[in-house]
Amino acid sequence: MLRFRDKVVLVTGAAAGIGYATAKRIAEEGGRLLLADINGDAVKRAGETLRAAHDTEYATFVFDASNMSGTRAMVKQAAAHFGRLDVLCNIAGIAGGWHTHEMPEDAYKRMMAINVDGVFASCQEAIPYLIESKGNIVNMASASSKQGQAYTAAYCASKAAVVAITRCLAVEYAENGIRANAICPGGVNTNIHHTIEFPKDVNPKLMDKLYPLFPIAEPNEIAAAVAYLASDEARYVTGVDFSIDGGQTVS
Ligand SMILES: NC(=O)c1ccc[n+]([C@@H]2O[C@H](COP(=O)([O-])OP(=O)(O)OC[C@H]3O[C@@H](n4cnc5c(N)ncnc54)[C@H](O)[C@@H]3O)[C@@H](O)[C@H]2O)c1
Repeated sequence: MLRFRDKVVLVTGAAAGIGYATAKRIAEEGGRLLLADINGDAVKRAGETLRAAHDTEYATFVFDASNMSGTRAMVKQAAAHFGRLDVLCNIAGIAGGWHTHEMPEDAYKRMMAINVDGVFASCQEAIPYLIESKGNIVNMASASSKQGQAYTAAYCASKAAVVAITRCLAVEYAENGIRANAICPGGVNTNIHHTIEFPKDVNPKLMDKLYPLFPIAEPNEIAAAVAYLASDEARYVTGVDFSIDGGQTVS
């Protein structure tokens, strides 16, 4: 399958985890890549690896998703690189757990800034290019957007906001030919999953909702869904919050 031949795809969070797996999948399917991350060295290595393996044309960009004007500037610079933008994949994000009443204000603000403001700003800047290309957006939300989970109120709120933004864009820009979809993974075998910190004294009974019915997913399984939603095969799919969570949110 070469679903992304002649397409230019911007992936944020491309240095690691789901973002890197998505970039790899797009590269395997013939796309040109704009790889963006806060980790400059790692995103450069990601691009070099993909070019070596797939002869991928790419460019890398360093940005901090918590900075809205910086994020908009990154999207503008990225779209200028190949002179077009067909797909925006917003995958950069952070997670963390606290007793809600103890979460420091700066940690709350950083969570919202990276997970929500960054997504909003990059969509804003990308939309005129996507109108031009009749392109689409895939935003990485989470199963956490759909559940009441202990200790992660801010993370859950941030991902619910990502779903809400996605739905609104799907409606507002449908007449311009833009699709917008969100993906809601459960546990995925990445850095975030293994390093997320919870309070030392969690009540294990309250953690049940964080566990899927199936073992943890691999990043490439999420990337496969990103690639489907971003491709023309999903021409009739917009505004969805697509769960890939091993049954975690089955009611
Ligand atoms: N891993 C999971 O279990 C899981 C589940 C549901 C949703 N998600 C979501 O998937 C997305 C990707 O996470 P992952 O699991 O691949 O984790 P990861 O830590 O492997 O990757 C996150 C990437 O985002 C980048 N990043 C972090 N802060 C940034 C910032 N301020 N600006 C720009 N880039 C930044 C990191 O450098 C990293 O490359 C996140 O939005 C996360 O919330 C992950």
